[in-house]
Amino acid sequence: QAGQKSEVHRLQYHFSPKAHWMNDPNGMVYHKGTYHLFFQHYPNGTTWGPMHWGHATSKDMVHWQEQPIALYPDSLGYIFSGSAVVDVNNTSGFGKDGQVPLVAIFTHHNASLEKTKKSDKYQYQSIAYSLDEGRTWTKYAGNPVLPNPGIVDFRDPKVRWFEPQKKWIMTLATKDRVTFYSSPNLKDWTRESEFGKEVGAHGGVWECPDLFPLDHNGRKAWVLLVSINPGGPNGGSATQYFVGDFDGKTFRPYSTNTKWMDYGTDNYAGVTFSNTGDRVVLMGWMSNWQYANVVPTTSWRSATTVPRELGLKEVNKELYLTSTPVKELDVLHEKTSSLRNVAVKGQYDLTAKTGGRNELFKLTLTAAPTSDFAIVLANEQDNELVVGYDKAANAYYIDRTKSGKTGFEKGFARRHTAPRLSTDGTITLTLLVDVASVELFADNGLTVMTDIFFPEKNLSSVFIRSAPGTTLPTLTYTPLKPSLEPG
Ligand code: FRU
Repeated sequence: QAGQKSEVHRLQYHFSPKAHWMNDPNGMVYHKGTYHLFFQHYPNGTTWGPMHWGHATSKDMVHWQEQPIALYPDSLGYIFSGSAVVDVNNTSGFGKDGQVPLVAIFTHHNASLEKTKKSDKYQYQSIAYSLDEGRTWTKYAGNPVLPNPGIVDFRDPKVRWFEPQKKWIMTLATKDRVTFYSSPNLKDWTRESEFGKEVGAHGGVWECPDLFPLDHNGRKAWVLLVSINPGGPNGGSATQYFVGDFDGKTFRPYSTNTKWMDYGTDNYAGVTFSNTGDRVVLMGWMSNWQYANVVPTTSWRSATTVPRELGLKEVNKELYLTSTPVKELDVLHEKTSSLRNVAVKGQYDLTAKTGGRNELFKLTLTAAPTSDFAIVLANEQDNELVVGYDKAANAYYIDRTKSGKTGFEKGFARRHTAPRLSTDGTITLTLLVDVASVELFADNGLTVMTDIFFPEKNLSSVFIRSAPGTTLPTLTYTPLKPSLEPG
C-alpha cells in the first residue's frame, strides 16, 4: 500500500493510523490485558472532517494494531472527543448475565445545527457500550445523556469512578472553564460545580480536561489537566494543569500559578488511560491546531506522543507534574553506547558512534547548569534541529527555525523555550527522536518539550555543541527499533 511506513516523515515508533487524518486520543482504557486507544479520525481524507472514533489496541502501549472504526457519525452528529471506562459494577445495566461492559462517553457535535444556526446547543454528551472487549459498540438509545444547557463549547467528557462516594465523575470542558458532573449509572448526570473562570491561562477555548489523583509522598493530590487552544506558551495549542484537592464535588487548587505540562508546540489534548490502577499514563496528540491541517505529509496526518507516566514533584513549595517515557518503551532499545566525561571542546560529533543511523534514537546526558550546550541533529542539506540549554535564561529550548520544510505555516519556524524548574545541581536530559519528532524530558520530566519538524532529507548526524570547556559527565546513545505495524 502506498505511503505508509515508507513515507519520508512517517514516524516509526509512535502510533498513527495507517492512513488519513487523526487528532485527539480518545477513550484510552486498559481492559483484560489490552490497552485500547481510540482517536479522532477522518477516514476519508488527510484534513479534519466529520469525526469518527478510530481504534487501535496494544499489549504494551508501544506496538499498536489498528482495528476497525469503533464509532461512526450518526443523526445526532459527529463523534467528538471523550473517554471510556470499565463499568465493573455494571452500574449502567448494559452488561447482561454478569458481563462487564466497556462504556464510552463522548461528545456528539451536530454540524447541521451548527450550520443552520437554528440553535447554538449543538454539542451534547452521549454514550455507547461494548460487550465484546471493545470490538463492536452500540450507541445508547437514550442519547444524549447530557443535553446542552446553552453553552456553545460543551465537550470532551472525561469520566472516572469516585470510589469514596461510589459515583461517576465527569470532567467537561465548558468554554472558558471546567464543569464537573456526577452520575450513579453513566446515564443520569447532575451538575456539581465549575472551576477555572478566574484562574489559569485563557488565551483560547478550554478543551479535553482530565482529573486524576496522584500520590505525593503518601498523600493524594488531584491533577486537573486542561488543553487550551490557542494561547499556549510557545503559540497555538497546549496543555495547562492545576494541582489541588477534589472532594467529589469541588476542585480546589493549591496554587493558581499557570503551569504547563509540555512547553513544546506538539503535545495537545493529552489525557490518561482509565483502569490502570495507581499508575497514571498519558498520551497526547503530537500536533497543533495552528498548522495540523497543513503539515507536509501526504498519506497520513499526525501521530500520538509516546506514552508518558505522570508523577508529582515539589519545587520551592509548589507541586509540579512530571512526565517520563513509560518503561515499556525499553523494548525498542538496541545496543547502547555509554560515554563518560565527554569533553565537548566546542563541538563533539556523535555520528561515528551511532553507526550512521540517526533517525530513531534515545539520548540521555548529564551536564552542569553552568554553561550553554545543545544537541544538534543535522543533514547535508544544512537542516538543523537544535535542542539545548541556555544558561543566561536558565531555560531549555528547541529551535526548528532551520529544520527543513517550514514554509507551510508562518509560525512554524520558531525557537521554543521552557523554563528550567529544577534546582538540582545537575541537569539530566532524555531525548527521544523519531524521524520527524523530538520529545525532551529534562530533570526527570519536570520540564518537557515536544516538537515535530520536517527535514528535507532525513537527519543523519548528531553532535553536541557547547561553550568551550564544557564536559558532560555522562552521555548515552541508544538506537531504537521501529514499532510501526507493517502496512
Ligand atoms: C481538541 C478538539 C476537541 C474536540 C475535537 C474535535 O483538539 O477540538 O475539543 O472534541 O478536537 O475533533
